[in-house]
Parts: sequence; structure tokens; C-alpha cells
Amino acid sequence: MSKIELFESERATEYNQFVETWIPNYHYFLDLLPKLLRETKQKDLLVVGCGTGNEIERFINTPEQWTITGVDPSPEMIKQASEKLQVHHNITLIEGLVSNLDPEKKYNIATLLLVLHFLDDNGNKLNLLKDIANRLVPGATFVMLDITGNKSQIKQNLEVLKLLLPEGLNEEQISQRLKRIENELFAVSEERLSELLQEAGFEAPVRFFQSAIYMGWLTKKK
Ligand SMILES: C[S@@+](CC[C@H](N)C(=O)[O-])C[C@H]1O[C@@H](n2cnc3c(N)ncnc32)[C@H](O)[C@@H]1O
Repeated sequence: MSKIELFESERATEYNQFVETWIPNYHYFLDLLPKLLRETKQKDLLVVGCGTGNEIERFINTPEQWTITGVDPSPEMIKQASEKLQVHHNITLIEGLVSNLDPEKKYNIATLLLVLHFLDDNGNKLNLLKDIANRLVPGATFVMLDITGNKSQIKQNLEVLKLLLPEGLNEEQISQRLKRIENELFAVSEERLSELLQEAGFEAPVRFFQSAIYMGWLTKKK
């Protein structure tokens, strides 16, 4: 079973403002998703760690009809996602882990955005990636967005991130957040991420997006 980083009460409520502040080009990245995935034949999408449903929202007003399952272990995040998305019959939201999903049900596409850096690399990252691979058909597309880089890349890109932050944040807040990213979250290098993905049953990934410490990755299930 994979580890959980729970997002509760205020952390869930303030989540959207938080990501907009700290992830430059976050909305731009989300807007790319339907375009990136529109060529896939089947539109059966699994959104892992769907949070408040930000990535799911992008698939609502598209010419293609998507069937979407969002899964997240945080009751608060799922509650917020449900409030936004419950009117849409093609969207199912499940409070839980990927390992709780019906093992017989297979998806054609999966996303994992801003989740993997909460899990350490002592088996937890690999377990989550394997759980996802087990829910996908061979050839399924998998998209990730995560803090990526070796220690020196992260250090340098944190300096870039600092330059891109919106006006009005206080220095103390900035320094605390940057320290947390550097010392408490579990970023892995590009090479290690590629190894983990391949060990979990995916092809070597391609990096198609970068904004400071955040990299977007695309791969397929073998
Ligand atoms: C930073 S949020 C990202 C939410 C959303 N993907 C987005 O981009 O807005 C991380 C989410 O991962 C969820 N999470 C934590 N551990 C998880 C796990 N093992 N499997 C799936 N989701 C997990 C948290 O509950 C939280 O909603």
C-alpha cells in the first residue's frame, strides 16, 4: 500500500491559492492536458491524487467526451472536488488509494500531478507507480507533473522559482517554503524518475514541460 500525504481542513481550503502562488505556469500546464491526450483512442481517464479536481475540470468543455475517475485519499480534497464536479455524470470521484480501485477495471490514460514528491524513495514511490501501471491497459498514456532534479538542479531552480513568485509574499514565508521544498519533500533526479517508471512497467519517459523545479513527463505503459 502506498503512503499518504493528507490534505485536511485549511490546507485543502487554501489549496488553489497555494498552487497558483507556488507553481508558476500551473494553469498553463493544466490547459495542455486535453490537447496532449486528445489523440488517444479511448477516453477513459484515471486521475490519481485528483485533489480539488483542477485537472479534471480541464476535460469538461472539450469536443471529446471523457469518462473520468478521480481518486484521492483526502476526504477534504474529495469533498471540494465533488462540490465542483458532481453535476457531471461522466465523472466518478473516489475517496481512497489506487490500490483500493477495482483491479479488473483498466484505464487508457492516467495522470499523477504533484503527488509523487510527497512519497519517499524507499519503495513508496515505486509502489504507487506500480499500482497505477496495474490499472492501465498496455500502451496506455501516463502523464506526470512533479518536482524533479538532482540536488544541484533543485537548488538552482529554487532560485528561479523565487524570481517567478507573485508580488506581496513576505520573506519569511518564502524562505520557509523554499526550505521545505529542499529539505522535506522527496524530489528525485530525472534519471531516478526514469528508472522508477521503467521498473513500475512504463517506457522511458519524455520531459515535455518545465517551470522552475516542476517538470512534466509523458510515458506509456509497456
Ligand atoms: C498537491 S495535491 C495535488 C492535487 C492535484 N493533482 C492538482 O494538481 O491540483 C496532492 C494530492 O495528492 C494526494 N495524495 C497523497 N498521497 C497520495 C497517494 N498515496 N495516492 C494518491 N494521492 C495521494 C493528496 O491527498 C492531495 O490531494
